[in-house]
Amino acid sequence: MEIDDLIAHLDEMVASGAELERLLETAVLGLSRSDPRFDWTGVYELFSDNMLRLGPFVGAPTDHVFIGVGNGVCGTAVAERRNMNIPDVREITNYLACSVSTRSELVVLIRSGDVIHGQIDIDSHQVGAFDEASVAKVERVADWLARAYDARGRGAS
Ligand code: SME
Repeated sequence: MEIDDLIAHLDEMVASGAELERLLETAVLGLSRSDPRFDWTGVYELFSDNMLRLGPFVGAPTDHVFIGVGNGVCGTAVAERRNMNIPDVREITNYLACSVSTRSELVVLIRSGDVIHGQIDIDSHQVGAFDEASVAKVERVADWLARAYDARGRGAS
């Protein structure tokens, strides 16, 4: 699926009153299908106890359902308030393995200014899978989801 089509589909879902959980599922599925190198695609939501909790995902089940801020690539992204693009996970120490086949990982924050709602996490079995174009694509979806979180906060459906 092209990302323009995914965004258009998400817009239509909002117009027909879809809940945030359905939007997250659709975004994850659309991203997962957008690139054969995306072997695991999921969302972690950030809760007020400083824990990331696994939301919708496509790929192998993972033991890492809860990740504390500061732990692993996912928790580090929140602690340092920045996206993470790890070309080879074998070269970093604070990595939480989801699959032994994973080689590269991308974490893009879902954020509205200073407020971090969560993140999109993508694993690839290929080294250096996340080039500029694929990062831009994931950022576009993350920014769209941040606006959906904002709308929910305003009481919109
Ligand atoms: N690799 C992540 C954990 C999540 S799994 O990849 C799905 C990390 O180091 O935080």
